Amino acid sequence: MTDFFLKRLSFNIVANDFTVAGKSSSAIKNFLKSMGLEASVVRRIAIISYEAEINIVIHSYGGKLHCDLYEDKITIISEDTGPGIANIDLALTEGYSTAPESVRELGFGAGMGLPNMKNYSDDFEIKSSSEGTFIKISVFV
Ligand SMILES: Nc1ncnc2c1ncn2[C@@H]1O[C@H](COP(=O)(O)OP(=O)(O)O)[C@@H](O)[C@H]1O
Ligand SMILES: [Mg+2]
Repeated sequence: MTDFFLKRLSFNIVANDFTVAGKSSSAIKNFLKSMGLEASVVRRIAIISYEAEINIVIHSYGGKLHCDLYEDKITIISEDTGPGIANIDLALTEGYSTAPESVRELGFGAGMGLPNMKNYSDDFEIKSSSEGTFIKISVFV
């Protein structure tokens, strides 16, 4: 029963809505904290889910963020509709960002989101096409 599924939390993420950006990842963080998970695991998931959420807001047409709790891991799934990532290797490069100036003025667009998501994960999977982007990240508890 190593990957026994316990619970899913799901959130709709609206593109370009900076008034609520970060709320879903914050709810995930608070829930995991209330479950009594180890602080380092909560912190890693908080960073991963925040960066995934902000990327949907900034770079996609909208999508969903899921947090799946298993007996032995927490999985974050980010799925959105277009425009997708043309070059995933480039997108994973530290400092690479296509965020427009208007978004940089709000303090986003450092190009560290995807590299950090990968660094803080135990398992990292990304698929993208012009239809959208799918990211699945696991942290073992
Ligand atoms: N969900 C997404 N949909 C489309 N493009 C994305 C998505 N997430 C990331 N990207 C692309 O990958 C680049 C790098 O992402 P990231 O490292 O989070 O940096 P930043 O968000 O600061 O630009 C983005 O600038 C964007 O071009
Ligand atoms: Mg980002």
